[in-house]
Amino acid sequence: MTQNKGLSLVELDDQGVDLAFRADVIAGLSQAQKALPARWLYDDAGSQLFEDITQIPEYYPTRAETQILGNRADEFASDIGSGRAVVEFGSGSSVKTPLLLSAIDPAAYVPLDISGDFLRAAAADLSAKFLGLPVYPVEADFMRTVALPDAVKDMPKLGFFPGSTIGNMVARTAVDLLRTMRETLGEGSKLLIGMDLIKDKDVLVAAYDDAGGVTAEFNLNLARRINRELDGDIPVDALEHVALWNDDHARIEMHLRAKHALQFTVSGEIFSMAAGETIHTENSHKFTRRTSATLLLAGGWTPVKRWLDDEGRFSLILAEATIPRSAP
Ligand code: AVI
Repeated sequence: MTQNKGLSLVELDDQGVDLAFRADVIAGLSQAQKALPARWLYDDAGSQLFEDITQIPEYYPTRAETQILGNRADEFASDIGSGRAVVEFGSGSSVKTPLLLSAIDPAAYVPLDISGDFLRAAAADLSAKFLGLPVYPVEADFMRTVALPDAVKDMPKLGFFPGSTIGNMVARTAVDLLRTMRETLGEGSKLLIGMDLIKDKDVLVAAYDDAGGVTAEFNLNLARRINRELDGDIPVDALEHVALWNDDHARIEMHLRAKHALQFTVSGEIFSMAAGETIHTENSHKFTRRTSATLLLAGGWTPVKRWLDDEGRFSLILAEATIPRSAP
């Protein structure tokens, strides 16, 4: 059965279990290296914990990107120009989105999100801040091509994808998404995208393993969510949060590591973990100027301008969906 659970359209069984969640968890826990798709970190509790993460001292990306958006308004105005429909991939942040919209004087704002409740709340917030700006929220999975509202079809577009969320995808998925964004927005569109930079390993690890333990709670909440929603009995106290830098893949990885050998049940299936074995729960890729350009070009976007925060930790890149001139 398909139900609107209040949050988004999900496929539920007779007991109200999210079928996609259960399928991903059972498949992911059955692998040699246990792994779960990071999107399941974001139930209501996880989304709130992520909001908390953006405020902690060690987690620099949100502050760094907000600083760029606040300091470069004049350049955004000249490089992006007014009169565009801003299409944000995700519900929008109450701080970053207004900074962009005030800088470029857009013709419309279109937030896209799979989660209807967050989407409507963010859209209402934005409408109240920008009286007279047409806001058209679209409840959709932006990993697939989205049909934009008729009212913005003929307007020039700017896609906005802040936060370095692109870094949570492996390269193949990131390229697929960039190509899908190009299809959604159309030839000649622009894209403003946040991409976090490779830096000192200790700074990176601390950002994902803060002293206050907020990121640990965010990670452990996934095990709690499995227990809550999938009739699980994972001994959460026997798991510990691990954040490590994988240099070969240029990414921070989050894992849940078993403190000792353990066995548990999820949806009637039995799983075991040896002491030290992990469940891989998230990747957060980091970039250089060259690797970010390569990824964007592979996805059909030509980078045209790049801004960094004062400490050079984070990049915001403006790219265009134009075919670059190339040798034959
Ligand atoms: C949402 N995303 C860009 C965050 C990141 O930095 O990769 C998610 C996150 N995970 C742990 N801390 C923050």
